[in-house]
Amino acid sequence: MAVPQKTRQRALALKNSIIHHNYRYYVLDDPEIPDAEYDRLLRELRQLEEKHPALVTADSPTQRVGAQPIAAFTQVQHAVPMLSLDNAFSEQELLDFDRRVRERLGGRELIAYSAEPKMDGVAVSLIYKRGQLVQGATRGDGSTGEDITHNVRTVDSIPLSIRGRKYPPLLEVRGEVYMPKEGFAAFNVRAAKEGTKPFVNPRNAAAGSLRQLDPKLTAQRPLAFFAYGVGQLDGGVVGDRHSAVLASLRDWGFPVTPLSRVVEGAAGCLEFYRKTLEVRTSLPYDIDGVVYKVDSIEDQGQLGFVSRAPRWAIAHKFPAEEEITKVRAVEFQVGRTGAITPVARLEPVFVGGVTVSNATLHNIDELRRKDVRIGDTVIVRRAGDVIPEVVQVVRDRRPKKARGVRLPRKCPECRSDVVRVAGEAVARCSGGLYCPAQRKQAIYHFASRSAMDIEGLGSKLVDQLVGAGVVTTPADLYQLSQEQLAGLERMADKSAANLIESLEKSKKTTLARFLYALGIREVGEATAQNVAAHFGSLQKLQSADMESLEAVADVGSIVAAHIGAFFAQKHNREVIADLLKSGVHWPAPAKKEKKTALSGKTLVLTGTMLNMTRVEAKAQIQAAGGKVTGSVSKKTDFVVAGEKAGSKLRKAEELGVEILDESQLSHLLSQ
Ligand code: IVH
Repeated sequence: MAVPQKTRQRALALKNSIIHHNYRYYVLDDPEIPDAEYDRLLRELRQLEEKHPALVTADSPTQRVGAQPIAAFTQVQHAVPMLSLDNAFSEQELLDFDRRVRERLGGRELIAYSAEPKMDGVAVSLIYKRGQLVQGATRGDGSTGEDITHNVRTVDSIPLSIRGRKYPPLLEVRGEVYMPKEGFAAFNVRAAKEGTKPFVNPRNAAAGSLRQLDPKLTAQRPLAFFAYGVGQLDGGVVGDRHSAVLASLRDWGFPVTPLSRVVEGAAGCLEFYRKTLEVRTSLPYDIDGVVYKVDSIEDQGQLGFVSRAPRWAIAHKFPAEEEITKVRAVEFQVGRTGAITPVARLEPVFVGGVTVSNATLHNIDELRRKDVRIGDTVIVRRAGDVIPEVVQVVRDRRPKKARGVRLPRKCPECRSDVVRVAGEAVARCSGGLYCPAQRKQAIYHFASRSAMDIEGLGSKLVDQLVGAGVVTTPADLYQLSQEQLAGLERMADKSAANLIESLEKSKKTTLARFLYALGIREVGEATAQNVAAHFGSLQKLQSADMESLEAVADVGSIVAAHIGAFFAQKHNREVIADLLKSGVHWPAPAKKEKKTALSGKTLVLTGTMLNMTRVEAKAQIQAAGGKVTGSVSKKTDFVVAGEKAGSKLRKAEELGVEILDESQLSHLLSQ
């Protein structure tokens, strides 16, 4: 059946439109249409092609997944070897690299480098002939790789055809296929539910996904791509500087990191390193360092290669986020609410930039799932400022005498029974404030910055005070005398005087801070603020019933029950009375709360803000009566989009949530 002219035109228009929107989405990170509309275009094209198979072309967006799995991987030769990079692990090694480059270029003073993040994924080669993707391959040993064309075609951000017209007839694009952190986490959640094997990290996940024989499996994995260079090239120019090469690739429709910069000399490199390290954990994907490349292609040619690595580039590695060490013991720590957390005591290991000797195992279920035994060799992970955790056991290094660990039946601190509520992952000590561990944490929490802000009362001092029996409740803090404090070990007269002064200062507080300081279960800062604003006075709150508690924004039946239970305890009421007696006070509520543009509104912050940090923005929004949450939903009133806002911004557009930029937010805050 001949395809009617109109249908042919419509199919072509749809195809071009989809390719254009892919470019807006994956390369420019600036979509013009919501996902739903994109899906409609794709569906329409698919229907037309089903009706008229003659319309199908290899580069049609519907043709990403091939029909059949392949039988085995075939090998491909790389016409231009895929090199690796030398590493610099310290500032000195980078300075040495820069010196060598300058010397080899005849004693140059200052070199311009293209600096970019080092993606932690899998290197791939993509060959385009006359603008069409004809081959995708792994790096392999650098000269021979495996043909993974069927799989790279399923990666949505890899173009099936080059955009525009002015591209070389033969072009090999090289870059990194990676799995974004979010997709990785979601994949592992699903794996846990389905009882299949989770991936250890996003890099292994990307590598494993590309090594599938069946492209349908690869297509289900959330993979993405960044281009970082060119291999084979015939009949065309790409650029005379590496930065220009990246710009061309971007123009041709390849996603290129938005973070690359041209920097001057070693000092510029080091500054780039520091800045990139700062944003490392907030990026949606893993990077394991930065790469500096001599920007001038001519200079690159002059510098040449040594064995497998170019002399014109170097990878400056970040401190590893994962390391291997041994478990010496597993102990159980008791938290403020009695939660019992298994903690692995480790042979000290340098990871994530610090020496780590303890790592959390989260809860008893996690401990069992990971099957961590004493004597095991384990992978520990410390990313950014997150608490170090045990990721998994290296099974083939388990010694014969490795000993399993059981949840204790009695609290290791106070010997009260350990209880587990059905359906909860957490086991708890039932000792309440009788348990010294819970008492210490409760007091430490009471004194913390966001609570009563008692400067100089650190955890060591709290341990000492509780251990010596001088302080059993937060109210006892205000009975301390300077002499008593000065009598403690390692406590100078001056520090004792300072602490008395900060105790005095802390008495003047707010109702919200006071409520938060009490440490009621599941009453965090935001909830405490809502509760304080709602009731206005402690008396009203103490006599509130469940119904009126649940009327508070953010308070559901569980939190309401926790609040009710807290005030129902005689012991807690006595402590509160003592605190008030020693002079803790707060201003009476303003008669009528001033209504601001943000009162009662829910906001989500995304992307990088230029004039304030997220923490500042959050504090100001809360002060104006608004609430900040982490994910966008229909209940979100505004999404504040900073620079490089990504998926949350898209979600907001999809749901039709109002979007503010930083200056609009400042304006609303100043009203
Ligand atoms: S350039 C000759 N740039 O690191 C230059 N590589 O150890 C070769 N990688 O196999 C690579 N991010 O998989 C380059 N921005 C980047 C990179 C990068 C990650 C990987 C790549 C390569 C390995 C080299």
